[in-house]
Amino acid sequence: AVQRTFSIIKPDATKRNLTGAINAKLEAAGLRIVAQKRIHLTKAQAGVFYAVHAERPFYDELCEFMASEPIVVQVLEGEDAIAKNREVMGATNPAEAAEGTIRKEFALSIGENSVHGSDAAETAAVEIAYFFSGLELVG
Ligand code: CMP
Repeated sequence: AVQRTFSIIKPDATKRNLTGAINAKLEAAGLRIVAQKRIHLTKAQAGVFYAVHAERPFYDELCEFMASEPIVVQVLEGEDAIAKNREVMGATNPAEAAEGTIRKEFALSIGENSVHGSDAAETAAVEIAYFFSGLELVG
């Protein structure tokens, strides 16, 4: 079925001017960018977004990193968009990411891993609603 998923181009990637290169890979994978904006999160806003990881040892470092530079938040649409996006992103740890994936090509480490993508339909809906209003989604 046609789905929407939420995506972030993270600080390590925006800093290295990789927004276009990453978007090219998303589009080549059959995903349509139906909403996109460049924003600079506060650490508190990053903390809310990643609240599910609040008990993890890397939480503070993760929030610092996500607030360190601008990010690009996006809504991607397509057939099985959630799985398709996870496939083109590659494994969280770039050392384990498959050839040709975004993380294999661009990620620096498990923390500075260039992109985020929703892991399920329920989280996609919550994540999209945190950053976008309905009027901003242009399919
Ligand atoms: P993301 O898909 O955005 O979801 C949570 C993020 O936490 C994950 O990508 C990684 O960037 C980050 N993360 C996961 N494990 C670690 C770790 N061991 N150290 C630092 N960051 C991590």
